[in-house]
Amino acid sequence: MIKIALVGCTGKLGKTILKRILDIGDVELRYAIARRGNQFVGKSVSELVNDKCDLKIIDDIELAVDCDVFIDCTNADAFMNNGYAKYEKMGIPLVLATTAFSQDDVKRIKLLSTKIPVFMSGNFSVTLHNFIETLKFAVKRMSDDTDVQIVESHHNQKLDAPSGTALMIRDALISANPNLSADRISICSVRVGKIFGEHEVIFANNRDEIVTYKHQVMSREPFADGAINVAEWILAKPNGLYGMGDFCDD
Ligand SMILES: NC(=O)c1ccc[n+]([C@@H]2O[C@H](COP(=O)([O-])OP(=O)(O)OC[C@H]3O[C@@H](n4cnc5c(N)ncnc54)[C@H](OP(=O)(O)O)[C@@H]3O)[C@@H](O)[C@H]2O)c1
Repeated sequence: MIKIALVGCTGKLGKTILKRILDIGDVELRYAIARRGNQFVGKSVSELVNDKCDLKIIDDIELAVDCDVFIDCTNADAFMNNGYAKYEKMGIPLVLATTAFSQDDVKRIKLLSTKIPVFMSGNFSVTLHNFIETLKFAVKRMSDDTDVQIVESHHNQKLDAPSGTALMIRDALISANPNLSADRISICSVRVGKIFGEHEVIFANNRDEIVTYKHQVMSREPFADGAINVAEWILAKPNGLYGMGDFCDD
């Protein structure tokens, strides 16, 4: 059974991953790691999620010496300024769920992946990956008079905009159609209520045709299950930077 260390366990995604690890039962929650100073440090996981798990929540990645893989779901600052050097030192495969990295951050993450296997994706849903593949097919055949709009909607606590997934979709569209540049794709970000995540891509041409594709999640479980599956998958991989394409096509 693989032993997972979950970093950012008190957050919205962290708690969902934690619950799913405990529910699934064929992977082990070996460490639950929170930010130093967080009110749950030193308490049992059972106080964080409604479960009987009495594992104590710790506050330092470097204490997680007996795990097979890390899953990080914190934030870009915490990862770059705290997690990065520790993961490098620990030498253990890393699943990076955290999003909103700058281009310089991504360069440093690529460097990290020469030392440990790193799996990075703004969205761990396999269905979302298939959605993007469908969009790539559609955009290849798009006429020059077509406007492309991505509308992404998330809960009002989400810090980054546009979402990592909207940027993934934009990059995938550009890679599939060389005639399309970033300035022809507008992204509209909506931050309201408790929406887990919606991504709508609208193609509208000047000949009265509109095609809309939409992906919607009704909970964080698809992300959590994806992160856990990927954590099992990456164990067999050599150092390098991996994404959903590598996982889904394997
Ligand atoms: N890849 C995907 O499929 C996917 C899906 C959803 C979300 N995400 C991304 O995952 C990240 C987390 O999202 P979220 O909605 O869960 O955000 P969130 O609710 O704000 O959770 C972030 C958590 O990280 C904790 N944290 C901050 N610094 C830390 C540190 N140094 N060590 C350990 N924990 C630390 C925070 O603790 P405190 O509260 O104590 O500060 C908080 O509990 C975001 O970047 C988000 O965009 C990715």
